[in-house]
Amino acid sequence: MKVVYWSSTGNTEQMAQMLGEELEKLGNNAEVAEVSAVSPADLEKENIFALGCSAMGDEELDEGEMEPFVEEVEKFAEGKKIGLFGSYDWGDGEWMRKWEKRMQEAGAEVVGTVIANNEPDEEDRKKLEELAKSLI
Ligand SMILES: Cc1cc2nc3c(=O)[nH]c(=O)nc-3n(C[C@H](O)[C@H](O)[C@H](O)COP(=O)(O)O)c2cc1C
Repeated sequence: MKVVYWSSTGNTEQMAQMLGEELEKLGNNAEVAEVSAVSPADLEKENIFALGCSAMGDEELDEGEMEPFVEEVEKFAEGKKIGLFGSYDWGDGEWMRKWEKRMQEAGAEVVGTVIANNEPDEEDRKKLEELAKSLI
């Protein structure tokens, strides 16, 4: 399963690695990759995948790489099973609520969202384990 993420200081990257590890523990092959290394066309072939991005701007996705990528994903999101995750700091998770709504409006089934305040801890790992279970 592909786990595609964008991360500025490594917090969402750690979440992506944790999700990958939890998927592997459940017997699934996880391909964890930075968004810059993945083309939307590759992801389109997958029925189930996870996307990660931290809160940037004013409760937005990263506008340089993740936002344009997600705009492409919206075009083929209909019927896909998607998990979303990311790290934030001072907000209340608004960026993730907006992102979830967007993907749902594009026709995806969002099976779960996980947000971690700054660096993910063991509680966040448990949430990512639950997300992994929902994805498989
Ligand atoms: C330019 C910039 C904008 C940010 N905007 C928000 C925001 O709107 N809401 C929030 O909760 N955190 C915001 N943050 C905090 C980051 O989301 C937080 O530091 C996060 O842990 C970064 O994760 P990453 O290392 O995966 O990118 C912002 C940080 C930066 C540098």
